[in-house]
Amino acid sequence: MKKPLVYVTRNIPTELSKAYEEKFTFFCWEEEETPVPREELRKHLQIADALICMVSDSIDKLLIKDADHLKIIANLAVGYDNICIEAAKSRGIIVTNTPDVLTETTADLGFALLLATARRLIEANNFIRQGEWKEWSPYLLAGADVHHKTIGIVGMGRIGKAMARRAQGFGMNIVYHNRSRDEAAEKELGVTYVSFHDLLNQADFVVSVVPFTHETKDMFNSHAFQMMKETAVFINISRGGVVNEADLIHALQSGVIQAAGLDVFKEEPIQKNHPLLQLPNVVALPHIGSASVETRTNMWKLCLDNVAAVLNGESPKTPV
Ligand code: DGY
Repeated sequence: MKKPLVYVTRNIPTELSKAYEEKFTFFCWEEEETPVPREELRKHLQIADALICMVSDSIDKLLIKDADHLKIIANLAVGYDNICIEAAKSRGIIVTNTPDVLTETTADLGFALLLATARRLIEANNFIRQGEWKEWSPYLLAGADVHHKTIGIVGMGRIGKAMARRAQGFGMNIVYHNRSRDEAAEKELGVTYVSFHDLLNQADFVVSVVPFTHETKDMFNSHAFQMMKETAVFINISRGGVVNEADLIHALQSGVIQAAGLDVFKEEPIQKNHPLLQLPNVVALPHIGSASVETRTNMWKLCLDNVAAVLNGESPKTPV
C-alpha cells in the first residue's frame, strides 16, 4: 500500500523524521534561504496527506481548495494567522499549532529584547566595535531602568504570563490587558487588570503578546502611541500586523515614545532599507522568539506527533 505523503515546507531534521519513515513518505522543500514558491506548494498540496508548514508560509483559501487529500496542516508555530482556518474547517482539514513547548523560550527572548532596548545594548555593542569608545563618561549610552518600573502586558495568554513571571523577578509593577480578566493569573502573579487605555497611560514598557486577528489588527496606532508616556518603550513579540508601522515610525522619530524592540514586522523578512531599521532607537530581530535549538526541536516533534496521530485516525495533541 502507498504510504501517506507528508509535505514539509523546510528541511526537517532527518534524526526527527526517521522514526516515521516506515509509515510515511516525507517530501521537503530543501532550500533554507527561500520559501517554497506558491506554485510548487500548490502542486504538492494536491497530492499530500499532511502538511507541515512555517509561520512564513501563507496557506490560503485557494491552496486549500485544491488540497484534495490533505487531512492535517501542522503549523510550526503557536500563532496560526498564516492559515485560512475557515477554509480548512470547511474541507474537514485539521489544523494544529505548537503551544506550550515554546512559551518560556519566547518569553526569554521577549525579556531579552526589553532589556536590550531599555539599556541600549545593541547601540553599545556597535559603539565599542566601531572603535568609538574614547573614554568613560557618566551618561555614555545611558538607558532606562527596568527594575521596579511598570510593565504593561497586552495579552495575558501563556507567553504573557511567562513575561509576567520574569517581570516579577525584576520587582516590576505588572498591569495587563486581555479580552477578559484572568483572576487566576491575578492571584498567582500579582498582576492587575486595566483597560487598554489605562495600560498605555501607566506602563513604562508596553509589551504586545496578542495574537493577530481582525480585532487586534493595527491596535498599536498613532492613538495608542499618543497615550503612552514619552519615555515608554514598546516591545512586540507577537505579530507585525498588530502595529501600524507608519504610526510607530512617526512616534519614534518625533519623540512621542522613546524606543521600540521588535521581533516581528508587517512584511517579513523586512527589507534592509525599511525606515524602521534606520532609527537608532529601534532594536530589530528577525522573528526569533522561539528560536532556541531545544525549542525548535520540540516544535518539530510536536508537529510530527500531530501528523502521525491524524494520519493514524487519532486526535492530535494540539488542535487549534
Ligand atoms: C510562533 O510560534 O507563533 C512564533 O511567532 C514563531 O516563532
